[in-house]
Amino acid sequence: MAARSPLINVMVNAAYKAAKGLIRDFGEVEHLQVSKKGPADFVSQADLKSEQILKRELSKARPDYGLLMEEGGGTPGKDSSNRWIIDPLDGTLNFLHGLPHFAISIGVERDGEPFAGVIYNPVNDELYWAEKGQGAHLNERRLRVSARRKMEEALIGTGAPFLGHGDHALFIRRTEAVIAKTAGLRRLGAAALDLAYVASGRLDGFWEEPLHPWDICAGIVLVREAGGYVTEIGGGGAMMASGSVLAANDQLHRPLGDLLRGV
Ligand code: IPD
Ligand code: CA
Ligand code: CA
Repeated sequence: MAARSPLINVMVNAAYKAAKGLIRDFGEVEHLQVSKKGPADFVSQADLKSEQILKRELSKARPDYGLLMEEGGGTPGKDSSNRWIIDPLDGTLNFLHGLPHFAISIGVERDGEPFAGVIYNPVNDELYWAEKGQGAHLNERRLRVSARRKMEEALIGTGAPFLGHGDHALFIRRTEAVIAKTAGLRRLGAAALDLAYVASGRLDGFWEEPLHPWDICAGIVLVREAGGYVTEIGGGGAMMASGSVLAANDQLHRPLGDLLRGV
């Protein structure tokens, strides 16, 4: 069994606790689809409950760490080096529509850099975890990015902008460029899992912008520890600030970046 550090154990235990509520609530969503009020309010409650559990558990274990949470915003900690960066439910729209593809994402940023990450999909019980210098894992298995070298064989993930968000015309131009050169494109709907899938080799690459630190902190550690590269789409290293993300295996990061930058 791969040895988890005390830090990873804290994150895993918190994720498992929050996941119980999410699974219960996901089971309810189907019934709510037909109710008058609809499931949207219910899902935002599920999201908030998950965040409260994560906050309680993580703060109990590391009371001095700062916090950055999607719903609750930022709280500085006594320890100015370490910060929890949390998405209590990544893939909310999937959850709302009864699509079983969503996750809890917990990252640790240390001295301004992603340091550790846990991404948990409670539906299929896939637990992704990684810590800087310690490798990336799916449950007990060590992860490695895919070995595909040819763009024409690559399966690429992305996130599409939506109503009121992002640059739609640019996304379409980039999509055209990528579908012309690759085996296929997927929009799965949970950015944290997209990055976990690059780490596990299911996807050969992924790009999206704009994302938020809680969507990507844990996933950046996973991809890097699995031997892949993560930069901004433009090639820079300020993903956590800009929200622009390009992740891929070591062979395809450059060609995929060249395609996206070339449009
Ligand atoms: C969203 C998902 C989605 C991505 C969006 C994110 P949320 O997060 O990760 O895949 O395309 O940009 O905002 O809202 O479900 O936590
Ligand atoms: Ca998210
Ligand atoms: Ca979320």
